[in-house]
Amino acid sequence: MHTTYKRSWAEPYKIKMVELLKMTTRPHRLKAIREAGFNTFLLRSEDVYIDLLTDSGTSAMSDRQWAGLLLGDEAYAGSRNFYRLEKTIQDCYGYRYVIPTHQGRGAENILSKILIKPGDIIPGNMYFTTTRLHQELAGGAFVDIIIDEAHDPLNEHPFKGNVDLNKLDQVIKTHGAAKIPYVAIATNVNMAGGQPISMANLRELRALTQKHGIRIIHDMTRVAENAWFIHEREPGYANKSIRSIVHEICSYTDGATMSAKKDALVNIGGFLAVNDWEVFEEARNLVVVYEGLHTYGGLAGRDMEAMAIGIEESLDNNHIRARVGQVEYLGHMMENYGIPIVKPIGGHGIFVDAKRFLPHLSQDEYPAQTLAAEIYLDSGVRTMERGVVSAGRKPNGENYYPKLELVRFTLPRRVYTQAHMDVIAESAAAVFARRNRIKGLKMVYEPKYLRFFQARFERL
Ligand code: F0G
Repeated sequence: MHTTYKRSWAEPYKIKMVELLKMTTRPHRLKAIREAGFNTFLLRSEDVYIDLLTDSGTSAMSDRQWAGLLLGDEAYAGSRNFYRLEKTIQDCYGYRYVIPTHQGRGAENILSKILIKPGDIIPGNMYFTTTRLHQELAGGAFVDIIIDEAHDPLNEHPFKGNVDLNKLDQVIKTHGAAKIPYVAIATNVNMAGGQPISMANLRELRALTQKHGIRIIHDMTRVAENAWFIHEREPGYANKSIRSIVHEICSYTDGATMSAKKDALVNIGGFLAVNDWEVFEEARNLVVVYEGLHTYGGLAGRDMEAMAIGIEESLDNNHIRARVGQVEYLGHMMENYGIPIVKPIGGHGIFVDAKRFLPHLSQDEYPAQTLAAEIYLDSGVRTMERGVVSAGRKPNGENYYPKLELVRFTLPRRVYTQAHMDVIAESAAAVFARRNRIKGLKMVYEPKYLRFFQARFERL
């Protein structure tokens, strides 16, 4: 009998240089996490074994990108690398005008200042921390229009990043289109667990917003991962290249902010891209105030070269298949241990449901913050809270209480091996086995903005 075997994915690269990791003891880690106020952001990277804090700026660059660094043209104005980056963005994403920024929030700042007036409403498919803060600082208010399924960690909807068009319709009816400068659409929604929006939903959204003359601004930080899920799950896309799917996604939007530190495989960089000349004109004016001249925007020429190369590499089908494949591998291991995770498994990490992991803790005892500290203590694996601490406070001072109380195990791109994944899952399982004995935290220091970065805690 003829048998067909399932073929595994494997990394489409081999290792040329290694960075040695420090292994620590439990007493060392206890001291370190205490000194860090039980906030994994305040740990020293030296004290971390496997660093899953974020996929932001933590990718391994390819030999081509490293070679590109040597091609840096460090002229103050008109660097050759800028023109290469501009052309790459135009070719790969289809946006017309490009302004480099030091990272994503630099682009968010400029865009929010240009498009948002006090009293404006910005509907979007779930908030992101820095994005919403820039909207609020510009006088706007964010309204969540993502489908309800996105707030339910157990719901297996294949496109939990989708917009609920009825919610958007309602926002337009309540506030009027004139109060809505744009709809903010993230591809592969970070805070929902790395969940994609479908092409069909984007198309419908485009039709609805066009009817009202409302722009769509695209947070394309993880657009390649979103394209992979469309390739895998949406009828009609199985034979299309990631490159063409990404291009199509962008074609339904009017501009984008990008943190190139994620999908675009660089350690620093970002950009603002728009199709509208007037917006570009204003952005070109503002960028010199906040970032630098419009042909470098806070970046060295070499950074722009590495970004251009990284963008190209990020759109390779084999790259993105292995990227998401590794995340799925880790997720399946955790599921086998019975650990509650957000489903479907997302694109950039595994999101553990701290509410179900530590059901005896109320949200005011910071279950996700607690769990991140416990995982670190167990193994030196550093993860990140994405729950009530990250959600912060409303402009009126009240706490946001998000439905999702998650710990993010974020996988840097091209950095760790499958054996690392095993160690990570085993650590989560060890903490899960003694979950009933874990006590919560109280916040003892709270910064004013984006408190999750610097807040300090003590054990209850
Ligand atoms: N938008 C999304 C969806 C992001 O995930 C981030 C950053 C930004 C914008 C801001 O970009 O950091 O380059 O200024 N997310 C990181 C994370 C910090 O860990 O999820 P930035």
